[in-house]
Amino acid sequence: MNTSHLKKLAQVGIALSAEKDINKLLELIVDEARNLTAADGGTLYIVDAERAHLRFEILQNDTMEMRLGGTTGREISLPPVPLRAFGHPNHANVSSYVALTEQIVNVPDLYEAEGFDFIGPRTYDASTGYRSKSMLVIPMKDHEDEVIGVLQLLNARDPATSDIIPFDPESVDLIASLASQAAVALTNRVLFENLAEAKRCTEQAHLDTIQRLAIVAAYRDKDTSMHIKRMSCYSAVLARGFDLPPQEVEIILRASPMHDVGKIGIPDAILLKPAKLNSEEWLIMKQHTTIGGHMLSGSQSELIQAGKTIALSHHERWDGSGYPAGLAGEEIPLWGRVCAVADVFDALTHKRPYRQAMSNQEAFKLLEEGRGKQFDPRMVDVFFSQLDEIAAIQDPRSEKVYRACCV
Ligand SMILES: [Fe+2]
Ligand SMILES: [Fe+2]
Repeated sequence: MNTSHLKKLAQVGIALSAEKDINKLLELIVDEARNLTAADGGTLYIVDAERAHLRFEILQNDTMEMRLGGTTGREISLPPVPLRAFGHPNHANVSSYVALTEQIVNVPDLYEAEGFDFIGPRTYDASTGYRSKSMLVIPMKDHEDEVIGVLQLLNARDPATSDIIPFDPESVDLIASLASQAAVALTNRVLFENLAEAKRCTEQAHLDTIQRLAIVAAYRDKDTSMHIKRMSCYSAVLARGFDLPPQEVEIILRASPMHDVGKIGIPDAILLKPAKLNSEEWLIMKQHTTIGGHMLSGSQSELIQAGKTIALSHHERWDGSGYPAGLAGEEIPLWGRVCAVADVFDALTHKRPYRQAMSNQEAFKLLEEGRGKQFDPRMVDVFFSQLDEIAAIQDPRSEKVYRACCV
């Protein structure tokens, strides 16, 4: 390998390890290998999870103007190549032979080669008029020396004349190095995605549990899960109106349903009492914030951490007279200030065990009165600037709105 080859290889290595999208990565491997050898065609196979077949991932041929698989969205309809046939290792196909023996195969002209069944390319040639000639087939081994795929290049071209020539033995080393870099990059990417997927699943499982608990709490409260849905949609509308970035709006939307999850720890006699609570009962009722905070503490999940913040702060008041911590003004986490307005508005406009539902006008009046006392004044202003969206969420026929807002 000469210096320019090494330099090129280093550049390709950097490009491969930087590519985050698996489909682009697969395509890049074939593109770069073909560039380095001026090959007319290229195929990339991946060993499937059962290690029973080689699956076609990328198929390219310049002369035939064919690009399949990868990011093209065009599927390869060819059946996978079996690694075993009739109980024996399949050495008849060159790709499976290379995957099984880990040997590189460099064939100057496959019509004259012996030992392999080149039925695939020959059939293709017969139906298209193409002439498959030189072929270089290389195993892709990852850092544990395991073959994860096969790279097959077809018809090397003379850069000057474009004639089909055999693959230069010097380029074999180059492509072998590229293939192993590609294998490591691919394995890393797959491992990373599996890990990210596992993290997503765990997070989803946590959330499912918490949201079910929130629904249980809501049902005990003779409320329905609709309160949670409306309240979280109002919260998202307020967060958006407050110009929070979309990721934060999403967090508020998904974490706000946990605001009253601590009510699960409040006795029925208090939670469901059809009259106003006495001062002792009220003290117990207030504990739903700290119980919720406790239930949601210690999680790695960003959403559950947000749920904890909201559970602990949705009853704080701007003037410092709220609970449980008596925080004032901007000491109150912003997410709590958002949810306070959303929660109170929905509670006021729906029936509770001890009172009837208020009209919107009455509730608006109370929000206005609470501006700068109970609520962050800017949040109340945002609320009044979003009345169309609030009304759309309120409309009982608007299941669609919930979906639109909750997606
Ligand atoms: Fe609450
Ligand atoms: Fe609530």
